[in-house]
Amino acid sequence: MSFPQDRPRRMRRTEALRSLVRETVLAPDDLVWPLFAVPGERVRNAVKSMPGVFQLSVDELVAEAQTGFEAGVRSVILFGVPEKKDALGSGAYDEDGIIPRAIRTLKQRVPGLVVMTDVCMCEYTDHGHCGVLKVSRAGLSEAAFRRAQRPDEAPPERAIHPPVTSDVDNDATLPLLAKEAVAHARAGADVVAPSDMMDGRVAAIRKALDETGYGDVPILSYAAKFAGAFYGPFRDAAESAPREGPGIPKDRKGYQMDPGNAREAMREVSLDVGEGADMVMVKPAVPYLDIVRMVKDRFDLPVAAYHVSGEYAMIKAAAERGWIDEDRVALETMLCCRRAGADLVLTYYAKHVAGLLTGIRR
Ligand code: PBG
Repeated sequence: MSFPQDRPRRMRRTEALRSLVRETVLAPDDLVWPLFAVPGERVRNAVKSMPGVFQLSVDELVAEAQTGFEAGVRSVILFGVPEKKDALGSGAYDEDGIIPRAIRTLKQRVPGLVVMTDVCMCEYTDHGHCGVLKVSRAGLSEAAFRRAQRPDEAPPERAIHPPVTSDVDNDATLPLLAKEAVAHARAGADVVAPSDMMDGRVAAIRKALDETGYGDVPILSYAAKFAGAFYGPFRDAAESAPREGPGIPKDRKGYQMDPGNAREAMREVSLDVGEGADMVMVKPAVPYLDIVRMVKDRFDLPVAAYHVSGEYAMIKAAAERGWIDEDRVALETMLCCRRAGADLVLTYYAKHVAGLLTGIRR
């Protein structure tokens, strides 16, 4: 059959008809709200590049999570900015660190809230990379070697010749990530989410959780995480921009994925599933919805999409200028992530969108 018998517009005549046949719907409990925890009390630092997002001390974070919960957001994911950063990111696996403290208070004060935690080193290392650095000693004096281990303290004019091979040390990072995940689980995290992109980290974390009695804590793996340009505002919020040093670049291209690769993303997901991931994530979201769809079609476990800081900032900026309708664009964006195959969407818009969906706005 074809026109004039076939008229798709018949089913678009009224909102009631349209909603009757709508294939994808968005609900507040599909959303996960990222929150940034910082030390102190009554701290509410606005993040300039992300209007509406704040670095929050634990007391403020609890209040924020509570308002989200009331609007229908039942899951949060926590990022921590520690008191002190060092080369080995020791704040990441400190059992009394900022994230364990935040988890303990949140679980107590907002029972029923799903508390996820980002497991990574970049917020805790002084060089901003997602793991510890490997430095070759070859041909270096003791002083130069020490300088090479601290890229932030070696300005370009003191660059070391010949260049050392320096890189994020994959295998030395794994036990630290495992310790971090266990510290979060011990504090009461419901889900741990490794975002570092080291090879083998899901297996290392799964093993450590199982051995310490946290066999029930699921892993949401940032399986296909691309080294793109969309994370800038997050790095302002988490104070985690990677720094250049001798032999180590100012980007994460040596561990996060190349934006041109889709088949490699399937390989990454398949490895993480094999290592024991319970859910897999694609990140960023909108420019990578083809990847979300491919993952959804090939793997039978929940798929998450992370609508990242740069994506959020773009909508905010256009809305501030009055160029787009923020509410409608935010709703449509999250709905389209779901339509592409995402079962859950991590978004800084979580509370805002949940409020629009439930009619509760604060
Ligand atoms: C940590 C991490 C990052 C994001 C989530 N976890 C930053 C990065 O990889 O540099 C980005 C989230 C966002 O941009 O909203 N590795």
